[in-house]
Amino acid sequence: MTDLTPISFADTDIDQIAGHAGRIAVLIDRDGRLDAGARRVNKLTRGGLARLIEGAPFAKLKPGDAVAMAYPGGLAADAVDVVCLPKGADRHVARRAGASLAKLRGQSDVLILAAGTRRVAEVAYGVALRDYRFDDHKSDAEARKGAVRVMCSKPDAAQEAYAPLMAIAEGAFMTRDLTNAPANVLTTTAFADQLAQMKSIGLKVEVLNEDDLASLGMRTLLSVGQGSDSPSHVVVMRWDGGKKGAAPLALVGKGVVFDTGGISLKPGAGMEDMTMDMGGAGVVSGVMRSLARRKAAANVVGLVGIVENMPSGNATRPGDVITSMKGDTVEVINTDAEGRLVLCDVMWYAQDRFKPAAMIDLATLTGAIVVSLGHENAGVFSNDDAFCAAFLKAAKTEGEGAWRMPLGKAYDDLLKSRIADMKNIGGRMAGAISAAQFLQRFVKDGMPWIHLDIAGVASVKTDTTLAPKGATGWGVATLNRLISDMFEKD
Ligand code: BES
Ligand code: MN
Ligand code: ZN
Repeated sequence: MTDLTPISFADTDIDQIAGHAGRIAVLIDRDGRLDAGARRVNKLTRGGLARLIEGAPFAKLKPGDAVAMAYPGGLAADAVDVVCLPKGADRHVARRAGASLAKLRGQSDVLILAAGTRRVAEVAYGVALRDYRFDDHKSDAEARKGAVRVMCSKPDAAQEAYAPLMAIAEGAFMTRDLTNAPANVLTTTAFADQLAQMKSIGLKVEVLNEDDLASLGMRTLLSVGQGSDSPSHVVVMRWDGGKKGAAPLALVGKGVVFDTGGISLKPGAGMEDMTMDMGGAGVVSGVMRSLARRKAAANVVGLVGIVENMPSGNATRPGDVITSMKGDTVEVINTDAEGRLVLCDVMWYAQDRFKPAAMIDLATLTGAIVVSLGHENAGVFSNDDAFCAAFLKAAKTEGEGAWRMPLGKAYDDLLKSRIADMKNIGGRMAGAISAAQFLQRFVKDGMPWIHLDIAGVASVKTDTTLAPKGATGWGVATLNRLISDMFEKD
């Protein structure tokens, strides 16, 4: 797994500034006031820092942005990174400030002079999240080096505030690594094996194989994977940090390691992007990792359906009728609407076995949600207003885009089949909603449920504030916050 940049916190020692090799960062409010560390930098640079702050480059900075003063005379450092961080900055600005530093960092050691800055842990979290590179397959990848040291007025408190954030960043890195990994590397079995390794951090992990799935009756899931030479798996991860016996939250993820569309083959252009079609399972895995890392006081069970959707002589055909674990029959009109066929069985199994207090599923489910919401927001569908409101609040707090979409009988009617209990597609209109309606048919009465269609947000083609282009790790922070808001209060 891609390692987090090590970040440490210590008391301010301005005598270390002159000799620090690497980069030095100062956090400056709009008013340009210099704290003790910045004053020392200014003195050593013979007023260079003050001139920069008084000039246009600093005035133009938005809160959270940074400008570099390169090869400053009087310092051993290669650069002084000047960040605009107003006193009352919220967590989003503090995280952006950290992200700005991470972008400038390259491989250098960084010394952040944070003095009494509030939200110093959030700055560190921003550094950690933005300092990500997926270079597993670059033959010229340099060994990652360089550490970040933060000098601040209350290092112990900062360290304590950073620890749970670091756990979340670690989870997000796992999600990104999984989602970025090519499908010949992250095969179904490699994915399951990697999850099994999380036993070492205290999760209970069970890997179900095709025989297990067949005995459970997960025919719709198996029908998706049967065209692939890689075997299908369901992996169950449990974190029991809450009250003994308390009903868990269930997280269910779509883990299609590659989606060719099957016999309803996708067009060639852009098909390579479907290596991220296990993004929902990637988020579930990353959340489970962070819960274990921060020893969350909650019971959470994560279940992922891991399959590969390939065309072959043994693949499911359009027109086939499959019986789900629930017992409902599905007429497969389009083998490219496979995610729902995977999820419906895993969702049913999750409810049947774990009797959860609530259930959230995550999936890169439809292109239609990308048409609706672009890459800014995940589609949120729910049968429970209070649960949904809590989720949207958590997403807002974490700055992860999420937008509620409707459900309703008229959309459900789109799934009527002439020969079976339902079709697996509802037609061109409202594609993301009819997909959600399909899933809702597998939600038991009274079960608070949220479906997150993350097709637009799991992986993006441009850099974002907290991630380079590629997999974002969207959802790991929000779900952690939701879990601590709803399940870790006694
Ligand atoms: N994995 C795709 C959805 C997707 C599209 C994810 C773009 C990420 C980016 C899903 O399995 C799919 O193929 N959906 C079809 C459904 C259709 C056949 C009803 C789609 O969206 O076209
Ligand atoms: Mn598909
Ligand atoms: Zn898919």
